[in-house]
Amino acid sequence: MTDVFEAGIFRGKRAFVAGGSSGINLAIAARLGSLGAQVGIFSRSPDKVDAALAMLHQNGVDAAGYTGDVRDYDAVASAIGQFAKVGNGIDFVVSGAAGNFVAPAIGMSPNAFRTVIEIDLLGTYHVMRASFEHLRRPGASLLNISAVQSSQAIPLQSHVCSAKAGIDMLTKALAVEWGPSGVRVNAILPGPIGDTEGMRRLSSTPEMAERIASAIPLQRFGTKAEVANLAAFLCSDAATYISGAILTCDGGQLAGNPTGVVG
Ligand code: HXC
Ligand code: NAP
Repeated sequence: MTDVFEAGIFRGKRAFVAGGSSGINLAIAARLGSLGAQVGIFSRSPDKVDAALAMLHQNGVDAAGYTGDVRDYDAVASAIGQFAKVGNGIDFVVSGAAGNFVAPAIGMSPNAFRTVIEIDLLGTYHVMRASFEHLRRPGASLLNISAVQSSQAIPLQSHVCSAKAGIDMLTKALAVEWGPSGVRVNAILPGPIGDTEGMRRLSSTPEMAERIASAIPLQRFGTKAEVANLAAFLCSDAATYISGAILTCDGGQLAGNPTGVVG
């Protein structure tokens, strides 16, 4: 398939991806890298970071890895500071570290609920806050990875729904605060994306996956590449007047339910 982006559009740009060692976030890191950006990835597991770096290097991406937990502000600030120092600033920051499990609100402990809020929402605040001083502006772009759960309540997902709704509002709040300095802040809301840890946790059987897909207007899961393309678009010069936007990449899921079942 022809690449819709011009080769090398991100040459000279630098992108930091929090939670970039696997899944959707790694696909975003690889996409920005394939278009020429130097990439920094950050997550907890040294093994996952090493494996992701090996994949990125194999694909010709100039990438560096950092380990730490997004719940630890100092660790986040240190990694972002190191990445920024190497290349004299950062152009794009993606915040996508997240945790999920399936549990009823009454069946999880307060610490379980807190854990997801702290990884997703507080972690995103940490990443954005620590990035601000290093951003090369104007033209800098911050991108948060939310989820359809921010806008559509799903059973057994009260923790994720709450955390992602917070991320959406944080996205808008910082777009407003940071707009005058030329920094754009947006969020992507993926629907169910195939071959990811997130969907392995949410749909454990093929029957369940089929049921979820049938409630999506496009009748299928999305791909990591489709989310990564939206991320590339939002970082690109085609999106220079887009800020404070919460863009779905969900096959129409939030538009409505195509099954015709009412109530
Ligand atoms: C109930 C659970 C639980 C479960 C953990 N807990 N798993 N409670 N049901 N299945 C509880 C623990 O008992 C503990 O509470 C608290 O949560 C913290 O657990 P820890 O294991 O100590 O936390 P930690 O090591 O920080 O791990 C965080 C994690 C883990 C979220 C629990 O699963 C993780 O690291 N996940 C990262 C990968 C991931 O989830 N990827 C998918 C992202 S998808 P107590 O009270 O016992 O101390 C996504 C949205 C997808 O975000 C949307 C799809 C459409
Ligand atoms: P994933 O592969 O598990 O990605 C999560 C990443 O975050 C991993 O690299 C993980 O690495 C890192 N991470 C988790 N907790 C962290 C912490 N405390 N500190 C630092 N890094 C941490 O899952 P995914 O399914 O691709 O999801 C990626 C993003 O897309 C998430 O924001 C998720 O909410 C969103 N999303 C996914 C779907 C879907 O269908 N999969 C749908 C909507 C939204 P370590 O384990 O090494 O820390």
